[in-house]
Amino acid sequence: MVLNRGMHPGVCLGLTLALYRRAHRAWTTTRNCSKSSGLAARQLRLCRDNLDLMPTVVHSALVGMETCQNQFRDWRWNCSSVLSVPNLNNDLIRGTREQAYVYGISSAALVHSVSRACSIGVTTKCSCGPLPRPIDEPEKDFKWGGCGDDVKFGLSFGEQFTDATLINKKGKTKHSKKSMMNRHNFRVGREVKRKRKKKMKILVPKRRGRSQFRSDELVYYERSPDYCKPDAKTGSVGTEGRQCTMGTRGRGSCASMCCGRGQYNYTQVITERCGCKYFWCCYVKCKTCTKVLKLNRCR
Ligand SMILES: *[C@@H]1O[C@H](CO)[C@@H](O)[C@H](O)[C@H]1NC(C)=O
Ligand SMILES: *[C@@H]1O[C@H](CO)[C@@H](O)[C@H](O)[C@H]1NC(C)=O
Ligand SMILES: *[C@@H]1O[C@H](CO)[C@@H](O)[C@H](O)[C@H]1NC(C)=O
Repeated sequence: MVLNRGMHPGVCLGLTLALYRRAHRAWTTTRNCSKSSGLAARQLRLCRDNLDLMPTVVHSALVGMETCQNQFRDWRWNCSSVLSVPNLNNDLIRGTREQAYVYGISSAALVHSVSRACSIGVTTKCSCGPLPRPIDEPEKDFKWGGCGDDVKFGLSFGEQFTDATLINKKGKTKHSKKSMMNRHNFRVGREVKRKRKKKMKILVPKRRGRSQFRSDELVYYERSPDYCKPDAKTGSVGTEGRQCTMGTRGRGSCASMCCGRGQYNYTQVITERCGCKYFWCCYVKCKTCTKVLKLNRCR
């Protein structure tokens, strides 16, 4: 993403999402654990001690980003700003619900990926976890076999890794409003993993005077803009040029996406494989079909 002039992006070393830039690279030496990888000072030791888990941490960054971008594909704010990590635009540092979501999902993805890694033996630090207890008593001659995810290890590793960014140089927990928000939302992300079925609830504004928050509620304290127009102050990039759908209402519709500015239409010709047939033995033959798509974008 290109940062407009006049924007003053914050840098958040330590948000695991920053590691997506290291995808498909091997972690072979403790020298790989450097600040330039986007890790915060207190994460460097964790990195050196758990080199074998680092590809898993990187994987979790990709999963977290993909999840965020999928989930918000049709929204005016579409999670594109995570691509600039560890530089963060104002939309992800002001204490908004978008920030809450991004911190929550990065933490959830980390716990999930590490727990999985344990069950497939990526590292010797953890192993098979206990299998989930069957809800109904299984048949007498039926036994659970195999391996469960080591959620306990995943949770504790995830907590150490994410919360390492919330400790100051003297080793004290940071108590700023933003640090407390981030810490809470990291924790919510981990709960997501613990209670598998519950969806992450979006989102509860932090009300004055309320000091206890439910463990499945993401918390934010700054109102978000409507993200219609570019605004450096809020980190909004606007919706000009975004694809939208005509003839519908609500999210993703041109009416909503374009904020009343209108849209233009255009056609796009795509070719794709179609009518594929399998021939014995052993190949597949396809035709090529041409399709004309009628598309709209916001002015
Ligand atoms: C780790 O260091 C090796 C050797 O310098 C390099 O080839 C590799 O790409 C590095 N991996 C990461 C994740 O930076
Ligand atoms: C998300 O929004 C940005 C900024 O408007 C845009 O450049 C990008 O193409 C959008 N991504 C998707 C998947 O629509
Ligand atoms: C495209 O826009 C033009 C004028 O804005 C309109 O006349 C036409 O019907 C539109 N085509 C489609 C496929 O929506």
